[in-house]
Amino acid sequence: MSGAETTQEPKLYHPSEATVAAAHVSGMEAYQKLCAEAEADYEGYWARLARDLISWKTPFTKVLNQDNAPFFKWFEDGTLNASYNCLDRNVERGLGDKTAIIFEADGGEVTKVTYSELLARTCRLANALKAQGVKKGDRVVIYISMSIDGVAAMQACARIGATHSVVFGGFSAQSLRDRIEDTQAKVIITADQQVRGGKSLPLKAIVDEALTLGGCDSAQKVLIVKRTGAEVGFNPERDVWMDDALAGQSDSCEPEWVEAEHPLFLLYTSGSTGKPKGVQHSTGGYLLHAALTTKWTFDLKADDVFWCTADIGWVTGHTYITYGPLALGGTEIVFEGVPTYPDAGRFWKMIQDHKVSIFYTAPTAIRSLIKAAEGNEAVHPKQYDLSSLRLLGSVGEPINPAAWEWYHQHVGGGRCPIVDTFWQTETGGHMITPLPGVTPMVPGSCTLPFPGIQAAVVDETGKEVPWGQGGILVVKKPWPSMIRTIWGDPERFKKSYYPEDFKGQLYLAGDGAIRDAKTGYFTITGRIDDVLNVSGHRMGTMEIESALVSCTELVAEAAVVGRPDDTTGEAICAFVVLKRPRPSGDEAKAIAKQLRDHISKEIGPIAKPKDIRFGDNLPKTRSGKIMRRLLRSVAKGEAVTQDTSTLENPAILEQLGQAY
Ligand code: WTA
Repeated sequence: MSGAETTQEPKLYHPSEATVAAAHVSGMEAYQKLCAEAEADYEGYWARLARDLISWKTPFTKVLNQDNAPFFKWFEDGTLNASYNCLDRNVERGLGDKTAIIFEADGGEVTKVTYSELLARTCRLANALKAQGVKKGDRVVIYISMSIDGVAAMQACARIGATHSVVFGGFSAQSLRDRIEDTQAKVIITADQQVRGGKSLPLKAIVDEALTLGGCDSAQKVLIVKRTGAEVGFNPERDVWMDDALAGQSDSCEPEWVEAEHPLFLLYTSGSTGKPKGVQHSTGGYLLHAALTTKWTFDLKADDVFWCTADIGWVTGHTYITYGPLALGGTEIVFEGVPTYPDAGRFWKMIQDHKVSIFYTAPTAIRSLIKAAEGNEAVHPKQYDLSSLRLLGSVGEPINPAAWEWYHQHVGGGRCPIVDTFWQTETGGHMITPLPGVTPMVPGSCTLPFPGIQAAVVDETGKEVPWGQGGILVVKKPWPSMIRTIWGDPERFKKSYYPEDFKGQLYLAGDGAIRDAKTGYFTITGRIDDVLNVSGHRMGTMEIESALVSCTELVAEAAVVGRPDDTTGEAICAFVVLKRPRPSGDEAKAIAKQLRDHISKEIGPIAKPKDIRFGDNLPKTRSGKIMRRLLRSVAKGEAVTQDTSTLENPAILEQLGQAY
């Protein structure tokens, strides 16, 4: 995005003196000192922080075990419990009456829970899970919307050593089924419905459907939280209302002390091939980075009100809702709804009402709210008192400089640093990001690695490229919160993240990056594989193609590519060859709708293509390979300037260029 700007002197936004003075990491020298400490004694550095931020039941004596690289182990002989670290120890420190969560429902009702209350709720839920037969090492799938119950359910799993796998409420029955089967989950926690943007949407009914699709025999029980009281199908042998499961359960539950490497959670994410993969995270290393990055990147302090707008179905909601802020005893917002309901001023109103001081959201949300504010003064942030804000964050996709400037000026009042945090489901927490009291910011750049993280830009052979030259983003050393494996597929883990091209020595992020020639700042240039980023949601083009061709009565062949989109960052564009003659006009529209609905059923509404183009064929080489780079140009509406001499059927490009 900013490659073209490299010749221009970048505009630096310096943190104010007051921000620097008050920050946990105060000033560039402090940052450099931390980096130097990690450089000099890598294991000692992480061990010091792990002792400082985490309460261990059994202290670890080993730090990093590389014997079976790239299956690294951190703090392996230590034992701990994540829920103890997030709840009990805050109560023990005297924070029992402090508000842990301020929950705002879609309709605006506010519920607050203190640390003591959240602990009691988590314990009852943990006891209820135990009563349903869940034991250490079992998997629990959580399919629920944003709620205190959602957070408590994750904490309850952690408390008894069960591994949770949260499935975003926007995924379909088919996707849910795949995850239940892959995790072999024993119990599913869901709600009757979810409420978003004034609409009630089914959850339990989707669970029911998923369980009829086969392969889910592991799932013995379904616990249902009553959210709307809607009538739902009820199988008395399998289904249990959460209220009944909780009745009579004690509100104390001894934490299960687990080894640091014990899998805290599995979270499915898209890669360039095959089905979504279950990213496995550890307990100790993950929790350390969740707490540490919350402390340093968000500079979280005792009196902050922290709001991460992500859903707990994504990694951002795991690290910066369920674990990081709670591990530090912070107060946070959990929001059930959407940014545009009842109007596009919702975020700003909530910041005002709850006096939010740290706000963390995605560029897509910002861009859509900019559009809304341009069309309607009444929802412009200037209509609200946002003076409580002191720090802003961005995550999930590159933030374009124009959106950055608007966020800085209109939301942050020109005074709040913006932390543009680059990281991934696999990294567990922030990898490259400004620190608010350290880093002069450049719009569109995630700036410098988090202290201790050894990020680099390399060429195809793994050699570092000079600053100013684009390349492949890698991490040179293992770090505590890294992915441990892909659940059930260690070979795929190795191949995806520690490829032979780099002799298995470098972690491959899957993104391209460039470092500024002068400052060394990193700018992410986008995925280098077939992964799309639509509204900050990760999706594999192959997954969408498979969903399309699974509509066997209609589709002969399909290819999916991304194209830039002003609001969602990237948009999905599908090229489809039907088993019948190429349709046009209303017929094409009707078939496109049918295909969108089909994808929605196979994956979820988030995977619906924005564009569907029909062709008699796809552009192929003489050996039959689909030429995706040509399709990318066609999707963008660009004239194809690439060499098409190897193309079997050049005329097809013109046909595909026409919208239906
Ligand atoms: C992209 C989300 C640019 C990137 C936490 C990465 C970003 C993928 C940024 C991971 C950022 C995330 N700037 N790109 N600040 N943050 N990305 O696993 O392509 O859902 O590989 O994790 O999002 O998406 P994931």
